[in-house]
Amino acid sequence: MEKICFDVLVPLLLGVSLNDSERTSFEGLPLSSKAELKALYKTYFDGFYGLLKWKSRFTAYGRGLKARAALIDLMRAVIRRRRQEGPINPTADFLSMMLAGQQENPDGVFSDDLIENQCLLQLWASHYEISALICSLIYQLGRHPQVVREEQADVMGIQSNVNRFEPDHLKQMLFLEATIKETLRTLPPSSTANRRLTKSVVLDGVLYEKGWVLIAEPRIANMMADHFHKPELFDPDRFGPERGEGKMYQFIAFGGGVHACLGAQMAMVVTKVFASHLLRLFDWKLTGSAQFVQFPLRKIKDDYQIDIARRV
Ligand code: HEM
Repeated sequence: MEKICFDVLVPLLLGVSLNDSERTSFEGLPLSSKAELKALYKTYFDGFYGLLKWKSRFTAYGRGLKARAALIDLMRAVIRRRRQEGPINPTADFLSMMLAGQQENPDGVFSDDLIENQCLLQLWASHYEISALICSLIYQLGRHPQVVREEQADVMGIQSNVNRFEPDHLKQMLFLEATIKETLRTLPPSSTANRRLTKSVVLDGVLYEKGWVLIAEPRIANMMADHFHKPELFDPDRFGPERGEGKMYQFIAFGGGVHACLGAQMAMVVTKVFASHLLRLFDWKLTGSAQFVQFPLRKIKDDYQIDIARRV
């Protein structure tokens, strides 16, 4: 799944084609293949969570830092190449949107440094987080497919060769959206949203001092009976208009407030499109229970089993 997400999201975010056989894909960049790029991300990812924070090539952390520096060099080169290509179309991809913002307001928020780091972070978030979400959704749909299938039939009719989903189709898939949210509630990929206190505050009689880091943990918040009726049940209807559960700061799979996830809408759309294709092409059911990796991202283990068959 990670591989598929990577292939889809790199062009969407950076506008870089990953087709190794095209001569121009990596022209002017310090890498020459998709495999090299993917390997760098993996080293960076493993290093980010390396336990021994020692800057050495003998530790995952040290290797991760080196990979990060190489990825930033790559982002810099991608930006340089994009500028040389001529006028920037702000709707072409995420990078172009930021570069156009910079051109419009050179003293604004989009400095080169910010753009490079955003490219790095967004690729990380999109392919690791979205692939974790889609895997968990496949698992949940394997247990509760019926209503989502009925909705797909209502929205798409009996068309069997849909290659693209229009925004209108996606907007009408309310139950699928609720099912994705329920998957995010019960199996949130991201484990934390952190805040460092800029001043001391007292909450419910407890003093939290300036400088402390507070962690909001979706695995705990999303399961609180104060906010979610029978939280242990997988019940997408809770996000429907009648019940209206999952208000801001209660459902925190994407964090909350000014630093809430920037890519939440994009993650929902990509997941909806992916799920709609899967539902159209395949039937599947789980054949046993699944296990989850809990850290650094909550993600289903690769060895879970499903029976999958192509729909006729
Ligand atoms: C299922 C997919 C995703 C999940 C579960 C997720 C989750 C999160 C969480 C929990 C945070 C911390 C929010 C906070 O501190 O309040 C965050 C931040 C962020 N996410 Fe995501 N994310 C996802 C996908 C994406 C995608 C696709 C992008 C970009 C294309 C993205 C970009 C970001 C950025 C830039 C931030 C930092 C925002 C800031 O600090 O102001 N995320 N995400």
